[in-house]
Amino acid sequence: MPLRDRKVIVTGGPTVEPLDPVRFISNRSTGKMGKAIADAAHLKAREIVFIHGPVHESLLENVPYRTVGIESTVEMLDAVISELRPDCVLIMAAAPADYRPVKKSSVKIKKSEEELILRLVKNPDILMTVAEIRRKNSALRNMFLVGFAAETDNIENYALGKLAEKDLDVICVNDVGRHDAGFGVDTNIVTIFSRWGDRLELPLLSKKDTASRIIDCVEEGIMKKTDKLLP
Ligand code: PMT
Repeated sequence: MPLRDRKVIVTGGPTVEPLDPVRFISNRSTGKMGKAIADAAHLKAREIVFIHGPVHESLLENVPYRTVGIESTVEMLDAVISELRPDCVLIMAAAPADYRPVKKSSVKIKKSEEELILRLVKNPDILMTVAEIRRKNSALRNMFLVGFAAETDNIENYALGKLAEKDLDVICVNDVGRHDAGFGVDTNIVTIFSRWGDRLELPLLSKKDTASRIIDCVEEGIMKKTDKLLP
């Protein structure tokens, strides 16, 4: 089924994991990359939903598609699962927190000791959970999964590792060690790998142009995957 007939679920922004009523663990994602992808997909797909963590309200002004706001990684997982359809494309540009505090204090933690030790527990991996759902349910085998990899070194190897480990169709790796790529900025430098061995190295581009190239690759990948499923 081509992209124009599909629903695209895009995630963007950080997640936040509360420590107490006023403090949390999070990261520097702004949601710009995810939002640019949702915008690019909106020009080509049947339906878009943008699931985002806490982002600046100006990012969501006048968006012409549905948006769903969440806070934690577990909430993002639940929101993604509730949006899954057999024809969907999931593009995970969000930066979900990998760990959360073992327990959230119901009152503000007091500044008493010189050292404060936080115990964290691993969050579920959203992409791996969805890939497993796809593997176990043949009615969902046409779902198309796209991940990002935020790396600072050994970029290609880590990206290919995540493509395989998370059972993705496409992975977009950005070098987040650079000042003009990755978190917060309006530009990115992305290399796109597919499970069919394609490799496309994009130059420094605006996130808008990067997003449109990613959507082109998703469109091509969907056609390749469809061909491979034909008897
Ligand atoms: O939001 P911006 O400021 O525009 O920045 C964009 C970005 C740098 C956040 C974006 O381009 C990006 O790289 N997003 C992925 C960040 C990330 O979490 O990378 P990772 O290598 O840790 O994770 C690999 C993949 O697994 C990602 O698709 C991620 O969304 C997904 N993941 C991660 C953790 C988790 N618990 N579940 C997941 O599904």
